[in-house]
Amino acid sequence: MPLNVDECRRILDLAKVDGALVFTDSNRIYLTGYASTQAAIAITKEGAFYFTDKRYLSEAGERISSDYTIGEGSIEQACKLLKRCARVGVEMEMPHNTYHRALGYMHKPGTVFGAVKDISGVLCKMRSVKSAYEIECIKNAQAITDAAFTEILPFIKEGVTETQLAARLEYIIKSKGAGLAFDTIMAFGENGAKPHAHHSDRELKEGDLVTMDFGARWNGYCSDMTRTVAYKSIDGRKAEAYNTVLQANIRGISALHAGVIGAEVQADIQKFFSDCGMDKNFTHSLGHGVGIDIHEEPYYNAEPLRAGQVITVEPGVYFDGSFGIRIEDMVKITQDGVDNLTKSDKSLIIIK
Ligand code: GLY
Ligand code: MN
Repeated sequence: MPLNVDECRRILDLAKVDGALVFTDSNRIYLTGYASTQAAIAITKEGAFYFTDKRYLSEAGERISSDYTIGEGSIEQACKLLKRCARVGVEMEMPHNTYHRALGYMHKPGTVFGAVKDISGVLCKMRSVKSAYEIECIKNAQAITDAAFTEILPFIKEGVTETQLAARLEYIIKSKGAGLAFDTIMAFGENGAKPHAHHSDRELKEGDLVTMDFGARWNGYCSDMTRTVAYKSIDGRKAEAYNTVLQANIRGISALHAGVIGAEVQADIQKFFSDCGMDKNFTHSLGHGVGIDIHEEPYYNAEPLRAGQVITVEPGVYFDGSFGIRIEDMVKITQDGVDNLTKSDKSLIIIK
């Protein structure tokens, strides 16, 4: 289940505020499990109050836990409740004009409202450790992603364009009842050297590597996976680079557990590529946390990783004008290791 009202109230304690205004789409999904383009949640010591307009009102009533109070309205109605609070938590990601409207509503004469405080950091930290419900959503998203990988392989054929193959992959994901976690990256041959290439009308030909970076969204939660396959044949240099990336992926995953410092794992993989003569070719971070946002905490930085966090391991090497290879799995951190949520084969596949 998403957060119940008691769990919402923890935000007030953690952020040391008397009330909170939650406005951004991602944090509203985190609290309620319900996605909409417009709504505002007021959290006070009395409860959690969800305001939305008629487009969502009846569905919100069906989908959101009954311990929330649901009403018609938006930021103004939420702020009416919050102006009784001396310190109100707000998210830094709130649009600037909405923030100023909110201040205007709370600053009415005769109210006790006195100050706003940023609660984004508290929400990021809470969101970075996933509940059993959230892990289930991410697992479902990844299961669809794994199935889509199996189903796309027969469509990898001579002359297909990157855009056509990306569209087919997205069709497969959506046909399974999921949304997309992000715009699919589909890169053939030399385009694979740009880690986040936009797909194009480049046609597939023998000897190309095909990099597919894609994910599904299930109940608001994302998955993220990359696989690189060869079309018809692969030369020795590319096969060797593939094996190096695969070793880096396996090495990164086996270094992870609760308490490890992400930056140290990143540095180890950087050194591994250096030792293999590819220090200039691994050009990005080893990965990122995944949840409601495709990129969220944790990152491979100075903070120790924690059990229950979900993070990608996505080493890659890029050779300008020639080819690129990336292999990305998504894992859940456990006390003594990880639970790899990605089940797709990552040994070298040559499509015949
Ligand atoms: N898979 C997209 C990304 O990690 O940015
Ligand atoms: Mn990723």
